Amino acid sequence: DRSLKIAPSILSADFADFGREIRAIEAQGADWVHIDVMDGHFVPNLTFGPPAVKAFRPHVKTVMDVHLMISPVDAYIDAYADAGADILTAHIEAGPHIHRTLQAIRAAGMKAGVALNPGTPADAVADLMDVADMVLVMTVNPGFGGQKFIDMTAKIRRVRELIGDRDIHIQVDGGVDPVTAPLVVEAGADVLVAGSAVFRGGSVDKADVYGANMAAI
Ligand code: DX5
Ligand code: ZN
Repeated sequence: DRSLKIAPSILSADFADFGREIRAIEAQGADWVHIDVMDGHFVPNLTFGPPAVKAFRPHVKTVMDVHLMISPVDAYIDAYADAGADILTAHIEAGPHIHRTLQAIRAAGMKAGVALNPGTPADAVADLMDVADMVLVMTVNPGFGGQKFIDMTAKIRRVRELIGDRDIHIQVDGGVDPVTAPLVVEAGADVLVAGSAVFRGGSVDKADVYGANMAAI
């Protein structure tokens, strides 16, 4: 399914009120809910772990999309399956055995995503096409919301070529806003993550964020 999907990141939500924030973004049309897990090791920031993600689950009526920015990954896969993740994404840079990690994510009953930092080339995923359900092209260096978009449109185009006619999503994450969203969609992305653009100023109004450029998308 290559229709456009919006996945707001709750990294920019009110951390004291996740249930309400999740319900609000879904009420405004979020297709997926994007959950950023950070370990203070793979990235220089800490967010939340499996017990918190499990607590989000009953509030998420759409798709719970969990982006792991942690290393190592494999020891935690079962915990995120138990927490109710629908899609679990691991970074290719997080360890030497991404192929095994993606297999293990599927074996635990989830869809498997592979994420690429800005410095990692598209062709790094060329041999993962049989074990991945999604490729996440980062358009910031991971760790924080609100960073400036890095143009990765050439990488997105190359990933789209590598995918061919396989049923694999391309997700883009970092600095996605009304100006950058049309660029990445034109390059071939079908799932847009947006944190600060959706929650800026406390607003979770999707139409406010994407409305002006919806026609372009
Ligand atoms: C960055 C996270 C993103 C982040 C995006 O490390 O993976 O999901 O929340 O935030 P914005 O949209 O503000 O760049
Ligand atoms: Zn993310």
